[in-house]
Amino acid sequence: MKGLVLAGGSGTRLRPLTYTGAKQLVPVANRPVLFYVMDNLVDAGITEIGVIISPETGAEIQRALGDGAQFGAKFHYILQDKPAGLAHAVATARPFLGDSDFAMYLGDNLIGMKIRDAVEEFRTAKDLAASVMLKEVPNPSSFGVAEVDANGHVTRLVEKPKEPKSNLALVGIYLFRPSIFDAIGKIKPSPRGELEITDAISKLIELGGKVRFNRLTSWWLDTGKKDDMLLANDTVLDDWLEGRNDGTIDAESKVSGRVQIGKGSRLVRSSVRGPAVIGENVTLTDARIGPFTSLGDGVTIERSGVEHCVIMEGSRVHDIARLEDSLLGKRVIVHPGTTRHGALALMVGDDCVIELSNK
Ligand code: DAU
Repeated sequence: MKGLVLAGGSGTRLRPLTYTGAKQLVPVANRPVLFYVMDNLVDAGITEIGVIISPETGAEIQRALGDGAQFGAKFHYILQDKPAGLAHAVATARPFLGDSDFAMYLGDNLIGMKIRDAVEEFRTAKDLAASVMLKEVPNPSSFGVAEVDANGHVTRLVEKPKEPKSNLALVGIYLFRPSIFDAIGKIKPSPRGELEITDAISKLIELGGKVRFNRLTSWWLDTGKKDDMLLANDTVLDDWLEGRNDGTIDAESKVSGRVQIGKGSRLVRSSVRGPAVIGENVTLTDARIGPFTSLGDGVTIERSGVEHCVIMEGSRVHDIARLEDSLLGKRVIVHPGTTRHGALALMVGDDCVIELSNK
């Protein structure tokens, strides 16, 4: 079985972070979401993986993922010239997929369980045309929504319905056989102008195909907004982080709980409470970090307290008594100002949100 990972699209939902980077590379516990996707496919024995990329962010995705060797896989990059929909992406990948069954995985979906069992079941159940994963959600209108019968089969899928018939959302992991191409050939673009994979699966069912579903029993994280990102970070730190120190900790510093410290990082008179991950070449001086915090490579924190934050590479925070519940992008600087009368002096890019203490 082959893999198809969708890492194209335009990624407007995650602005401002995606002005400077692809949405699938946004880090969770210091690793791009896309890396967890690849881990899960490889764990299921899928090592021939096509990666859909867009003209805008394709080069960046290729740089981050490489040829697949570091994941024990082989990656084949497939350029989709415009984000014309998930089914369009599948059709674009046809020369790579050939006659193979395949697992399609959306590059921005992060789940807390392995797909190995579902893949194994699909490999053997030859009567199935496709298999999808569903999860009950409180806001089904934001997703593809499934209607199912009592025998564990999907009867219909609708993309982001205004009046959903169930609360079963379609998780971005699908198992297909080559028959999906015929179904894609028979659908038209949706009102939002995309060739929807939900419509293609509904067509597959109409044409007599049997589509099974598995319920996702673990968490499923949408890395869409600040609070989602912080929650994704909390969950991954809590569930998967292993403590390890490749940096230097001076005698006046203290590390407690599960903390991962990367090469070249230095702790000087600082304390870190886990779970927390600190990238490479991070400098902490008179800092209090964590719990539930991720600091990217090259971050500097001086004379500050940082709790429940994601701070991306190259950013610097100094002389801030407490920074909490915050998400800072790359190369951001936060420090007290020198203006008089308590005035703020800001330099902020488009679409940012600044929440100031009201005291
Ligand atoms: O996350 C699950 C949901 O993903 C499902 O419930 C929906 O049924 C499914 O349509 C999809 O909805 P989204 O609106 O969230 O999809 P989005 O446009 O964010 O694209 C998902 C991924 O696929 C993302 O990593 C970008 C990539 N993509 C998207 C399009 C439209 C492509 O590679 N090519 C594309 O043409």
